[in-house]
Amino acid sequence: MSRYEEIKAQLRSEPATWLVTGVAGFIGSNLLQALLELDQQVVGLDNFATGHRRNLDEVERLVGPERWARFRFIDGDIRQPTDCARACEGVDYVLHQAALGSVPRSLEDPQTTNAANIDGFLNMLVAARDAGVKRFVYAASSSTYGDHPDLPKVEERIGNPLSPYAVTKLVNELYAGVFARGYGFRAIGLRYFNIFGRRQDPNGAYAAVIPKWFGGLIRGKTVYINGDGETSRDFCYIDNCVQANLLAATAPDEAANQVYNIAYGERTSLNELFRLIREQVAARHPEAASVEPEYRDFRPGDVRHSLADISKAGRLLGYEPSHSLSQGLVEAAQWYLDNL
Ligand SMILES: NC(=O)c1ccc[n+]([C@@H]2O[C@H](COP(=O)([O-])OP(=O)(O)OC[C@H]3O[C@@H](n4cnc5c(N)ncnc54)[C@H](O)[C@@H]3O)[C@@H](O)[C@H]2O)c1
Repeated sequence: MSRYEEIKAQLRSEPATWLVTGVAGFIGSNLLQALLELDQQVVGLDNFATGHRRNLDEVERLVGPERWARFRFIDGDIRQPTDCARACEGVDYVLHQAALGSVPRSLEDPQTTNAANIDGFLNMLVAARDAGVKRFVYAASSSTYGDHPDLPKVEERIGNPLSPYAVTKLVNELYAGVFARGYGFRAIGLRYFNIFGRRQDPNGAYAAVIPKWFGGLIRGKTVYINGDGETSRDFCYIDNCVQANLLAATAPDEAANQVYNIAYGERTSLNELFRLIREQVAARHPEAASVEPEYRDFRPGDVRHSLADISKAGRLLGYEPSHSLSQGLVEAAQWYLDNL
């Protein structure tokens, strides 16, 4: 049996209390769904900066009233220490996802990103420390690799950040380290690489590439590729990310106070990604089959190639991604085709 299966069985027999921050967002709402499906108690915190009530409504529909009754939502802001303290009360595990994502957003408005991602992060660390939680798992980012040229990316070799967003995620790791050394706190950072799947927002100026392209192709709008399309990323399906969070929360203490790459471990170019998404959409909207993307300038702050070495998460957490990019795209397509 995999460690993930063992942990799920253990959690089902001995439910715990979890705090998911950013619970109305893409990753947060998927964590909520997975935890409620395992009959856990969940507290959720969100201020709807980029998350949506409809994500919570969808989870409620999917899990049913009995499991939904185990969820308590706090409409609050991680920039407010009192909201963080209230959310951490009686919690065993924190899965901290709340932050302002997007490299371009941070380049346009570094202060707002800084306030949520650094002040908010520090507030959450203090609240979790004071509440005596067992483990604090947080969303770190592959953007921390910055301009380091090596591929695949290994956890201990990072370059200079290329955006304010990347600075905030690096600072999160530094603060988590200081809390470990200064207070004996136990945190794990998960450096996510381009997570995608159901409920990832296709709308707005800062949408990520996969939901934006599903949205564009389904709605018959122009799809843009920034640069020549040979930029590549390690796209990782949401179920792999959920698995990593549950494994990290329950991993032995020797695995704590470290960061882990969370990805699939394969690199795909944007040109190839476009073809894969177009194929999925064309199965239901045949007119999409002949759509070509429009190429425009490279985007500042973007790294050219990204690929993770995921062996550390495999070794120390028991992480075994269940979905490749194409397997994940089949499931994601289903959701976008049904919901857009
Ligand atoms: N999706 C990815 O590929 C990816 C990659 C690397 C890192 N991450 C990180 O993962 C986390 C979740 O990202 P996501 O893709 O689900 O984004 P998302 O925007 O869907 O979710 C973020 C959630 O945090 C909430 N939030 C923002 N500021 C807040 C505040 N001040 N107080 C309370 N709630 C607040 C938002 O309303 C939203 O619901 C973020 O920390 C992000 O930086 C995501």
